[in-house]
Amino acid sequence: MTASISIGNDSNGNPVLVDVEELLATRLLVQGNSGSGKSHLLRRLLEESATLVQQVVIDPEGDFVTLADEYGHVVIDAGDYNEREIVKMATRIREHRASVVLSLESLELEAQMKCAATFLSTLFDAPRDHWYPALVVVDEAQMFAPVAAGDVSDEARRLSLAAMTNLMCRGRKRGLAGVIATQRLAKLAKNVAAEASNFLMGRTFLDIDMARAADLLGMERRQAEQIRDLERGRFLALGPAICRRPVAVRIGTVKTSTRGGTHKLMPPPVTATGDLQELLFAQVEEESASPPPPRPEPAPLPAEEVMRALAAAPSARPVEPEFDMGESDGVIVEVLEEIVADLGEAQPGVSTLYQDFTVRCRMKGLKRAPIDLPAFRKRFAMAQAGMADASDPRWDDALRAAEPLPEDMLAPFLLIARAAMQGLPCPDDAKLARAYGTSSPGRVRRLIDYMEKLGVIVARTDFGGRRSIGVPQLGLSTAAAEG
Ligand SMILES: Nc1ncnc2c1ncn2[C@@H]1O[C@H](COP(=O)(O)OP(=O)(O)OP(=O)(O)O)[C@@H](O)[C@H]1O
Ligand SMILES: [Mg+2]
Repeated sequence: MTASISIGNDSNGNPVLVDVEELLATRLLVQGNSGSGKSHLLRRLLEESATLVQQVVIDPEGDFVTLADEYGHVVIDAGDYNEREIVKMATRIREHRASVVLSLESLELEAQMKCAATFLSTLFDAPRDHWYPALVVVDEAQMFAPVAAGDVSDEARRLSLAAMTNLMCRGRKRGLAGVIATQRLAKLAKNVAAEASNFLMGRTFLDIDMARAADLLGMERRQAEQIRDLERGRFLALGPAICRRPVAVRIGTVKTSTRGGTHKLMPPPVTATGDLQELLFAQVEEESASPPPPRPEPAPLPAEEVMRALAAAPSARPVEPEFDMGESDGVIVEVLEEIVADLGEAQPGVSTLYQDFTVRCRMKGLKRAPIDLPAFRKRFAMAQAGMADASDPRWDDALRAAEPLPEDMLAPFLLIARAAMQGLPCPDDAKLARAYGTSSPGRVRRLIDYMEKLGVIVARTDFGGRRSIGVPQLGLSTAAAEG
C-alpha cells in the first residue's frame, strides 16, 4: 500500500507528496523562525494523514486541540492529571491506538518538560504487543531537547532530553516516528536532530541556524542561503519520504483553525471518539476519586524565585538578555499583547502573570525572562492601556504625568491618558476596575478621587451624567461617556 498525502504545491503548482509509510521509517524535522508557518505545516500534515496513521501530538501551547473537532483526537489537558495518571493514559494510548493531543498549555515550563518526558517515555516503553505505528509530533521541540541548560532543574532537562532522544533515535523500531518542529536548530540538541532524514526548512534568519540547516540538508552554505528569504508558509523540502532533491513547497490550506480562531463549522461529536475518551479516561478518574484527585505538584515558580532573589539583593544583577535588546524587545511587546488579549475577564495576580510572561518568552526563543518583575509590572500596566511598546515616544508624556501615582494606579491612569490623547470616550468603571485589579465600583470611585486630589486628573460629569476626565499635564481630555 502506498499512502501518500499532499502537503502543498511546488513552484509549478504540482502537489508535493509525503509518503507516510516512508515517513514512519525516516522521521521529520521542521525548522523555521517564529511565524514561518511550522505549526500550520504540522497541522496540514496531521490533517491529511489523520485517517492513515495514529497520531500523538505534544502541544506546548494547546494549539492543536482543535484537531478533536474534525478528526476525533482525544485531548488530554496535562494540568488535570498527575504523573501516575499520565503514565496510565500513555499506556492505553499505545494499546488502543488512540490519536491524542497532549496539551501542556496550563503547565509551567519545568512541569511541561517533566510531563512530556513521562508521557513520551511511557509510549516508548510500551510492551512489544503494542508497538503499533504512530506519528509523534512535537512542536517547539527545542523546549524539550534544549542544547543548553536553562532555568529548569537538571532533572527536568535530563528526563526530557532522554525521552526526546529515545523518540528520535530509537523510536522507529517501536513504531514511533518523531516529527519535530523547532524555531532554532542551533537550540535543539544535536543528537535529536541528527536522526531525522526528512527536512522542511522555513525562513531562517540566523547564520548559525542556517549553517546547521545546510549541514543537515547536505547543501553548500551558499545554496542554503535560499531559506533566508522564504515567505511564511514556504519551505524547502528534502528527504526519502518527500523527494530526493530539495524542492520548494508552498504549504497548502488546513481545515481546522488554531484555537482562538473562529470555527463556524463544528460537526457533531463522533461516537467513536466518545468511546475512546471513555477508554482512556474512565479508569483513571475512578481510581483517582479516592483519595481526591491529586493536582499535579505545582512546579517551582520562577517568578517567586526571581522575587526572592530581588528581595535578598536589592541591587540585584541586571538580567542579561540573551539576544541584543532589539530582538527581545520585539518579543516583549508581542508577548505583552498576547497576554492582554488572552486575559478576558480574568484577573490573575502579577506573579502569575509574570510567570505566564516568562513561559511565553521562552516559547518565543528567549532563554530567560528579558525583564524582571518590577519592570514587568510597569510594562504590563502599559500594555493594558494599549501601550505595549514602551519605546514608542508617544507614551513618554503620559508616563511622566503618572509619576506621582503609586504603581498599582498606573494601569487605570494610562487607560485614561490614552483615551485623552486619542480623544476617545472616557473608559467606563468596569474597564478602570479591571485595570485596577478590582471589581468593586466603590474602589474605582475612590481611585478617581485620589488621582484628582493628587492633581493628575480632573474629572467632570456633564448634565446628562456622562463623565469625561482631563489630564492637566497633557492638556487633554477624554470625550464624555457613561461612567
Ligand atoms: N501555508 C500557510 N498558509 C496560510 N497561512 C499560513 C501558512 N503558514 C502559516 N500561516 C499563518 O501564519 C501565521 C504563523 O504561522 P505559524 O503559527 O504556523 O508559525 P510558526 O512557525 O509555528 O511560529 P511560532 O514558532 O511562533 O510558533 C499563522 O497565523 C498561520 O495561520
Ligand atoms: Mg508554532
